[in-house]
This record gives sequence, structure tokens and C-alpha cells, in this order.
Amino acid sequence: MTTISIIGSGNMANVIGTRAVKHGHSVELLSRNTAKAQALADEIGATVGTFGERPAGDIVIVAVLYDGVVDAVTTYGEALAGKILVDISNPFNADADGLVTPSSAAQEIADVAPDSAHVVKALNTIFGHVLAKGTPLDAFIAGDSAEAKATLAAFLDSLELRTFDTGGLGAASILESAALLLMGLARNGAGFDLALGAQVL
Ligand SMILES: NC(=O)c1ccc[n+]([C@@H]2O[C@H](COP(=O)([O-])OP(=O)(O)OC[C@H]3O[C@@H](n4cnc5c(N)ncnc54)[C@H](OP(=O)(O)O)[C@@H]3O)[C@@H](O)[C@H]2O)c1
Repeated sequence: MTTISIIGSGNMANVIGTRAVKHGHSVELLSRNTAKAQALADEIGATVGTFGERPAGDIVIVAVLYDGVVDAVTTYGEALAGKILVDISNPFNADADGLVTPSSAAQEIADVAPDSAHVVKALNTIFGHVLAKGTPLDAFIAGDSAEAKATLAAFLDSLELRTFDTGGLGAASILESAALLLMGLARNGAGFDLALGAQVL
């Protein structure tokens, strides 16, 4: 059993938190909207922590809209020292057919996070409603710390998410483009009940 913390109380916090609780993990929700977080926590069987204070989990999932990720991580500041920061955000433009950052959301988070935090990109290539089905899926991750990636992979594997390591944090931009690929496929014939996967032959 792992304790994870999730910053945010929206759709992805709900889906990831639900999946984690179902697989026996302890989930702490951290939201600037405590009432919303408490309602979600009651629904999924999680607890609520104090927004801005040091999260309980070693794995902290930043389930915040791209526009707010840098702000949220900056607000936490040194409270995130030593944590594995999981960036799931997609820096899409308004039409969700392009990216708005020349680097990556993950790199922007790493730039404001404490030096001792380890940013790992993950879960951004999976639609929330697909993750909510609870079926096994492939999950792609990117980050500079092998140890942080191994810890996160063990957690994701326990949720029946088969993890593929795509490389260092520089590969986060590839994963953010992969989310555009998913969106394009969904919009152009494949439909939204769709998941990206890798086939090992
Ligand atoms: N939905 C999907 O299918 C999907 C799939 C893959 C990745 N993602 C990514 O997952 C992230 C979350 O998406 P979502 O669907 O869960 O969005 P959502 O339902 O709109 O929830 C967004 C959450 O972000 C919080 N937030 C926004 N700005 C913030 C700030 N400055 N400080 C603190 N919290 C802030 C919101 O808090 P309030 O409630 O207080 O406004 C809310 O809890 C996004 O980056 C998205 O790109 C989504």
C-alpha cells in the first residue's frame, strides 16, 4: 500500500484517486477548494490535506489544468522537497490541436519545483473516462530520476497500468505531442473510447 497525494479535485483527481483506492492505496486530496475536495474524498474514500502544506505521499500527482500547474507548484514551494511530482497536464491550445509551450509543461514545473523534487511526466496520454473504466492500459512516463521513475512505475503497475519508460524529462514534450496524437485519432474516426499502447513483439 502506497500513500499518494493528489493536488486538484477535478476530473482526473477523481479518476486517479478512485483507481488508486480500488487497488488498496491511501489517497490524500489537496485542493484550494477544501469543500470540493472533501466532497470528492467522501465519494471515493480518500482523505483531505491542507492545500499548500507538505503532502503526505512521496508521490504527488499534480492534477491541475496546465494554466495553473506552475502557480500550484510555486505555491507549494519547499513543501514539495524530495517528492516525486507527477505532471499529467496537457498544454493544449484552445482547439486542442496544438501545444502552447515550446518546451514542455513538465519542464516548466521542474523549473519552479525544489531542486530535490523529481518531476515525472505520466498519464497525460490517457483519457480520463478511459482510465475510469478500470481496465489494464499502457502508461508512458518520462523523467530524469531512474529511482523516481521506478517508484512511480511500481505504483502505476499496481493500478494495472503497464509502464513504458520513454526517457529523460526532455521526452515529456514527446508525450505531450502524443496526447495530440490521441486527440487527433479520436476526432478523425477512432472515437474517444481509445487508448494509446505499445506492442512488444
Ligand atoms: N480530463 C482528461 O481526460 C485528461 C487526460 C489526461 C490529462 N489531463 C490533464 O489533467 C489535468 C487535470 O484535468 P481535469 O480534467 O482533472 O481538469 P478539471 O476537472 O478542470 O480539474 C482541474 C483542477 O485544477 C485545479 N486548479 C486549476 N488551477 C489551479 C491553481 N492555480 N492552483 C491549484 N489548483 C488549480 C482546479 O481547482 P478548482 O476546482 O479550485 O478550480 C481543479 O481541481 C489537466 O492538466 C489536463 O490537461 C486530463
